[in-house]
Amino acid sequence: MTLAEYKAYFQDQLSQLYCPTDSDRLFLILCEEVLKLNRIELRNSLHADVPEEHRSELDKILNQLKSGRPYQQILGKTHFFGLHFLVDENVLIPRPETEELVELAVAKMKKSGSWKMEDRSYSRNLKILDIGTGSGVIPICLKKQFPQAEITAIDYSEKALETAKKNANLHSADINFIHQDYLNQGLTGTFDVIISNPPYIGMDEVGEIGDSVKEFEPEMALFSPTSDALIFYRKIAADAEHHLKENGIVFLEINQKLGKETLALFNNFHRAELLQDLSGNDRFIYAVK
Ligand SMILES: C[S@@+](CC[C@H](N)C(=O)[O-])C[C@H]1O[C@@H](n2cnc3c(N)ncnc32)[C@H](O)[C@@H]1O
Repeated sequence: MTLAEYKAYFQDQLSQLYCPTDSDRLFLILCEEVLKLNRIELRNSLHADVPEEHRSELDKILNQLKSGRPYQQILGKTHFFGLHFLVDENVLIPRPETEELVELAVAKMKKSGSWKMEDRSYSRNLKILDIGTGSGVIPICLKKQFPQAEITAIDYSEKALETAKKNANLHSADINFIHQDYLNQGLTGTFDVIISNPPYIGMDEVGEIGDSVKEFEPEMALFSPTSDALIFYRKIAADAEHHLKENGIVFLEINQKLGKETLALFNNFHRAELLQDLSGNDRFIYAVK
């Protein structure tokens, strides 16, 4: 069977789950991984036969895809903010909106007068806290951008923290990971920056979430544990009083349906803004104490 024939078979097998554009994109990603060819080489190999060992590897992947498993979990890795990260069933697969959150934080922090850097060395060590770190993408990307920063990352899932630690090792990022139930345990220390993408899907929205997400990604990463979808945000706003320094900044990814309500929690800050993602949805809070 040629690669072109296999591609037609692959797309047909996945037609219930993926539109042709998405299955085409997936096919390229998987072939790059299995055949170790880049996209141009792949396009040039469409009429060559698929070697048996590659065929059986692709078949195995295809079977897992048919079960609805996200391809990032099948490959065990994903791309985020220009870096590779390990992912598994214990962590949320990092989303493009969270890349935007990191981009926003990096841009605002680099602009902030008191933290201006010269030759990548800061006038003082920044203390950053990430709440609900999952695979660790946020603190690791920030550590790459702010090597002098002292970064703490907490998560209630021990298994997620294991994956986050592997990612930190992979990127030689020194992060202080803490196993903690943020909603029920107090914070220690004061921070210049608090950043978080906490679970923000309300119980009333369960029906709107795709089956593949619900079946394969950790429930604890997705859903608010109570009927209050803002529970993490309320605690972050309250904690800011004692655990965020004056002029400290909060960066949050939020539920697009609760923009105004989430912003209102930060109205005692010196400045608080609701920002949109690239799709135009209310997605981030940027607040300066
Ligand atoms: C939406 S995920 C975000 C993961 C990662 N920061 C990202 O953006 O890809 C939320 C994370 O919060 C963690 N979490 C849920 N409840 C928690 C709690 N009570 N205390 C600390 N972390 C919690 C979950 O385990 C999960 O890793």
